[in-house]
Amino acid sequence: MTTFNFQYDLVAKDHNARAGVFHTPHGDLLTPIFAPVGTQATVKAVTPAQLKEIGVTLVLANTYHLYLRPGADLVAEMGGLHHFMRWDSPILTDSGGFQVFSLAGMRKIDEDGVTFKSHIDGSIHRFTPEKAIQVQEQLGADIIMAFDECAPPYDRAYNQQAVARTHRWAERCLAAQTRPDQALFGIVQGGIFPDLREQSARFISSLGFPGHAIGGLSVGETKEEMHRTLELLNQILPEDKPRYLMGVGSPEDLINGIRRGVDIFDCVLPTRLARHQAAMTRQGRLNLMNAAHARDPRPIDEKCHCYTCTHFSRAYLRHLIVAKEMLAATLISIHNIATLVYLVQDARRAILEGTFEQFAEEFLAHYTLPEK
Ligand code: GUN
Ligand code: ZN
Repeated sequence: MTTFNFQYDLVAKDHNARAGVFHTPHGDLLTPIFAPVGTQATVKAVTPAQLKEIGVTLVLANTYHLYLRPGADLVAEMGGLHHFMRWDSPILTDSGGFQVFSLAGMRKIDEDGVTFKSHIDGSIHRFTPEKAIQVQEQLGADIIMAFDECAPPYDRAYNQQAVARTHRWAERCLAAQTRPDQALFGIVQGGIFPDLREQSARFISSLGFPGHAIGGLSVGETKEEMHRTLELLNQILPEDKPRYLMGVGSPEDLINGIRRGVDIFDCVLPTRLARHQAAMTRQGRLNLMNAAHARDPRPIDEKCHCYTCTHFSRAYLRHLIVAKEMLAATLISIHNIATLVYLVQDARRAILEGTFEQFAEEFLAHYTLPEK
């Protein structure tokens, strides 16, 4: 169905790390790329102009939330998601399956789809693969996702079923697509099980999607299991299509993902941490509520060139937090998103120069993992 040429140009490879360009109707995406999450058609506390200034080019929105409120009909009537939220760069929408499982109250899954209860008003709704595509066509994002089932990572029997169903649903999503200007990505599932992951990657990549997503990771498995899964999928997924690791986005996960052939990431982490007074840096996390920052004239990160770090002190940010001022969330969100955007930009430069392994080693050596 796709007639826009959603081409992915692999520009450079350094070991398994890739630098590329993915062409979309709203502009080119330079990969590796990090997309902040705008669940409800807004990246919480940050304006589109501020996102642009950071250098963000892709944002993610959620089909589940926008379908429930304000409704896909309303968004379509307002000219589609780009116009509604005044974001003229590429948008990616998740299909809703994952959100139904993590957010909805009651839910009942069968071969045809999922019936669920709205987390907003308790009303009953039903998503099928066809419905998920129809809603995503009304929203109008550049990249849309197949309707999938994400099973708990260690449950083999459930994953076997979920993979088979995700495959049948992937075919139905492809058949349901009518818009020529949206790239529909297939999603690989299979938990921590190498044989299921291999089966899923082979099947999904046989269907001719313009891109492939890796689902069911960062959902309770160990880092080592995530890394092994990525290494396996890197060998199976076609080189000439982008790979998107869904819902992953701590600084160390980005570097470890890029190192294993991932091109696209999204995560709520930078904005969620910001609303909990935590700043992300290349050395680790910083709690700005801490009294130690009360008289600290330094920015969050002296090497960071974001708007927040070039204008404001830790002392001022801590004051905003203590005084419960809304600007705190905005300024910390800007810095956290910038940290991830600059990190993947630096990774891309290193891949182009052939120095990515060194860059990754150096980054990981200086990064302190957050306490659990
Ligand atoms: N976001 C994070 N993980 C997943 C997943 O497995 N499937 C979908 N659709 N979205 C996700
Ligand atoms: Zn900064």
